[in-house]
Amino acid sequence: PVQTGLRICCIGAGYVGGPTMAMMALKCPEVTVTIVDISVPRIAAWNSDELPIYEPGLDKVVKACRGKNLFFSTDVDQGIRDADIIFVVVEKSTVPIKTAEAISAVLHGAGKTRFDVLSNPEFLAEGTAMTDLDNPDRVLIGGNMNESGQAAVAKLADVYAHWVPRERILTTNVWSSELSKLVANSFLAQRVSSINAVSAICEASGADVDEVARAVGMDSRIGPKFLKASVGFGGSCFQKDILNLVYLCQSMGLPDVAEYFHSVVTMNDRQKERFVSRIIHGLFNTVTGKRIALLGFAFKKDTGDTRESAAIEICRRLIEERASVCIYDPKVEANQIWMDLTAATRLDRTEVEKYVTLCDSAYEAAAGAHALAVATEWDEFKGLDFAKIQDGMVKPCFVFDGRNVLDHAALRKLGYIVYAIGKPL
Ligand code: UGA
Repeated sequence: PVQTGLRICCIGAGYVGGPTMAMMALKCPEVTVTIVDISVPRIAAWNSDELPIYEPGLDKVVKACRGKNLFFSTDVDQGIRDADIIFVVVEKSTVPIKTAEAISAVLHGAGKTRFDVLSNPEFLAEGTAMTDLDNPDRVLIGGNMNESGQAAVAKLADVYAHWVPRERILTTNVWSSELSKLVANSFLAQRVSSINAVSAICEASGADVDEVARAVGMDSRIGPKFLKASVGFGGSCFQKDILNLVYLCQSMGLPDVAEYFHSVVTMNDRQKERFVSRIIHGLFNTVTGKRIALLGFAFKKDTGDTRESAAIEICRRLIEERASVCIYDPKVEANQIWMDLTAATRLDRTEVEKYVTLCDSAYEAAAGAHALAVATEWDEFKGLDFAKIQDGMVKPCFVFDGRNVLDHAALRKLGYIVYAIGKPL
């Protein structure tokens, strides 16, 4: 059939492309959106009932649009040939700054077709991708300041204007847009490292990190979000983007600025190590041969993603200390855990299996355990029957709450010894 509307092609059917394009298709019924990827199984999954990524609300949107104005295909060339939007090439993934310049140079060298390259960074967070896309704080579009660059910016802005108020669509030059993405993630990560640094002071001084965060966050200049102390931030972006910025600073001859941002990552590594030290010291200075139930493996709740998850490093250290680790996560696939742990420990799977057991429930993981350690803030952990769990544990029963999600007073009443991030004992 002859299509009259705009045709958008997205290259890469991953965490960014999938949800973003599905939302675009939903909001712009007259636009045809095709997502192409060279991975056959990935495209097959997008075309099946079992989507390759888990994101609340995504299923509904994909099912509403797929086959109408949303298509998934492995025919990359055809997808590009058919599209108007690769009338611009739009950088959606987070990239090192100046990537647009490199892409332009390659494209202009390659053929006769003229491309404008735009930067349109994605700010969605995993687990809330669909609501973030539906109602973004802002949409950022960077383009060249010449006439065709500005025309390309306006065209993409018109697509977003289907559902995003105009005042939230910011247009800038390409470099500002690329840099803003790295800076936004660095600032977010910096807040987490700041509150985690404060958690160390709290543990040493008797202050309570949640109380401090609340008091500080009520200053409207600081704000209450992203001040939750934890075992350390994870996810595919924070560390990568900070290191990207650090590299950029170094290469531009700004070593002090590089060092400043790098300390955010250093602090995060120390936080994971501090948590493991607490477990070891709590369990009378050794965990060798002791069974530890690790609750949660994803880098945060409501996602099955484990990239850079603090749980991986915690496990690696516990294995190094020859503990027996029983892992339960409601969403993460078993295979993923084996892959992460073999990569992190550099042991083969049979070696890792000597120390690690994967469990189907928190109860199974806790049976016979000396301690429970919470690495991910899954809601279901709050509702566990801790009296029942305690019956099956070795006494005294320890809880190390790396996310401050459990009711510590209630646990202590039951007789647990509770260590929590940034809390007095
Ligand atoms: C992050 C940003 O929040 C998004 O805006 C950005 O688009 C995205 O990276 C990206 O560049 O792709 P995401 O990695 O999905 O999103 O997850 P976040 O919700 O930001 O959490 C990152 C990590 O920080 C998690 O491990 C989380 O548990 C931790 N965190 C977050 C804390 O420990 N404390 C907090 O107060 C907040």
